[in-house]
Amino acid sequence: MYKNLIDMFKENEGKGAAGAFNVHCFEMVPAMIKAAEELNVPIILQTSLGTAEYIGFAPLIAAVKALAEKSSVNVALHMDHCKDIEALKKAIDCGYSSVMYDGSALPIEENIANTKEVVGYAHAHGVSVEGEVGSIGGAEDGIVVDKDAAMYTRPEDALHFASETGADALAVSIGTTHGQYKSKAKINYELLEELKAKLGDTGLVLHGGTGVSDEDMKRCVREGMKKINVGTELNKSYIEVVAETFTAEGVTPLTSLRTLLGPANDRMKEIVTEKALLFKLD
Ligand code: 13P
Repeated sequence: MYKNLIDMFKENEGKGAAGAFNVHCFEMVPAMIKAAEELNVPIILQTSLGTAEYIGFAPLIAAVKALAEKSSVNVALHMDHCKDIEALKKAIDCGYSSVMYDGSALPIEENIANTKEVVGYAHAHGVSVEGEVGSIGGAEDGIVVDKDAAMYTRPEDALHFASETGADALAVSIGTTHGQYKSKAKINYELLEELKAKLGDTGLVLHGGTGVSDEDMKRCVREGMKKINVGTELNKSYIEVVAETFTAEGVTPLTSLRTLLGPANDRMKEIVTEKALLFKLD
């Protein structure tokens, strides 16, 4: 079924975190949903504004909704890291089930005011909202998310933000960075515990999943993360598999583009399966 994060979190309570996977082209979508169906876990498909504009809002949403409605699992379509309120209103009007307003680079009161505006509009349309406090940093979809060094989320700011805005989910900065591929993040568990205790019902979101070790993923889920984002690993692997297939002996990709895309789509399914298993509580 097609869901927002509010209902998805409720139905997934006690079962772990929902995996949120960045979609870069439409071909990735069916493979990702199939992986979730085989494990019987919910899945959040998330796009940047750039991906939504590349595929087109209407065809992307229509296709995800059609796949979600006939799926055995809950599927959300979420707009990731968007600083443009008008673009978020468009995403909501067109049918995204969830959006993220990223005002983390703004002074906290401005971030709160803007997020509040998005929450008002989104909730009136049955759409959930994720906000961000602190700065996760790094680059996402080729766009530098924050040019300054990452900055930990201050628990008092997070509590103030959550109670003022009514956001359903909150991206917190506890040591991860977007796009960190080679080294692994050092997670501040003391801070996570403090945030969890302060935030109660607001779903905590871990960004920068590519740079998180399997052990840390599992521990973050045990400690109450509700949504975990993975992007770079999917994008990088898709490109690598296409390149390998193109140069592999005996493969004649020029007869059909599908020869190249099929193995890359299969790799998406494998990665989503590997991650989703880490996000599931035993
Ligand atoms: P990675 O690209 O580091 O996996 O992070 C994804 C993310 O947090 C999307 O917002």
